[in-house]
Amino acid sequence: MGCAVIGCGNAIPDLEIDNDQMSLLVDTSDEWISSRTGIKTRHVALNESSLDLSEEAARKALGWDDGGYSERSIDPEEIDLIITATLTGDVLVPSNAALLRRKLGLKNAICFDLNAACSGFVYALNVAESMIAASATASNRSPIRRALVVAVERPSRITNWADRNTCVLLGDGAGAVVLEYDENRAGILSTFLANEDDIHNALTCPTPLDVVPPFDADGVNTAQDIIDESHAAIDEMVEIEESLAEGNPRNVLRMNGQRVFKFSARAMKQAITEVCERAHVSLDDIALIVPHQANERIIDFGARHMGISKDLFKLSIEHRGNTSAASVPMALADAYNEGQIKKGDKVIVVAFGGGFTIGAALYEA
Ligand code: COA
Repeated sequence: MGCAVIGCGNAIPDLEIDNDQMSLLVDTSDEWISSRTGIKTRHVALNESSLDLSEEAARKALGWDDGGYSERSIDPEEIDLIITATLTGDVLVPSNAALLRRKLGLKNAICFDLNAACSGFVYALNVAESMIAASATASNRSPIRRALVVAVERPSRITNWADRNTCVLLGDGAGAVVLEYDENRAGILSTFLANEDDIHNALTCPTPLDVVPPFDADGVNTAQDIIDESHAAIDEMVEIEESLAEGNPRNVLRMNGQRVFKFSARAMKQAITEVCERAHVSLDDIALIVPHQANERIIDFGARHMGISKDLFKLSIEHRGNTSAASVPMALADAYNEGQIKKGDKVIVVAFGGGFTIGAALYEA
């Protein structure tokens, strides 16, 4: 008995930007981006909200719309849990999962969002599977038989479009899977989650929360202080506007590419090895590995160091870029749509990212 993947879908924003267009923004070239990352184009959500993208991916995974993989059409009442992995929801409250519940009429679902950076989907999958497994064996919990796990990202909203080190890498999109508890299927065979401290702050993005609370160590601040504070805030706003005008926005992603690269390559190998060992499955028995699509060279490196063929890895970075948490379910949906996953196949999903976070799951399709 296990927790089976019974649906999968993705959503890709309409606007596609190629590397030549990126070279109009920053000092770069198609040759540099292609050879260093494997990326040729990325999509930017101009007219699609995070909720729009989540909805499109979810509807395909639920079997309501064409264009995804779905073993059957799921009734709205059948979904007990929605988890969205995202850094870039439309609003902080309600959560993206709560907005999706309302939009899709999934009235029995409990829902929340989760932030584990680029590993968010794999973390959410782990949490959903744990909640389903726990409720299957205990009567003192909310019954959860089916979960919708969505990852949606619009990194275009936290990208410094004047920083060539990061802006060429990222893309927007969403992916979703439906998980179902099934007494007769193996489903998820093993999982692995781990964190390491990002001691050098190699991957950061400041919070957009910037209200200054009207308090000091003695309690409520005096009116004069508040006025001073508000003058200071105005000065600061002017500074921010000037900085923005110079192409230096504040709440954007910053990355030390080489440090992140080294961590990612090592983390991917560790996570794949762990899920195989925990499931007592040899790498030779794996039909497909669907990795986080951060850089094709990380996958090259991983394949070489594990002594396995690169063909075992699903690649979809070329026309997506790095879509953060959404990249794994987006690539997984591609693999289903392209007939690369058949019933009974053993599949690994693996991700790594800011935090640092590392996660993987091995399942039988
Ligand atoms: N176009 C042209 N040149 C660029 C460039 C761009 N878009 N971005 C950086 N460069 C330049 C650098 O400024 C540097 O120039 P310098 O030698 O004059 O200083 C040179 O290229 C080499 O930079 P470097 O950082 O050593 O390149 P790299 O081979 O490490 O590739 C990344 C950079 C970002 C592609 C790579 O480090 C990477 O993919 N890291 C991991 C990213 C990742 O996975 N992030 C998400 C994790 S979830």
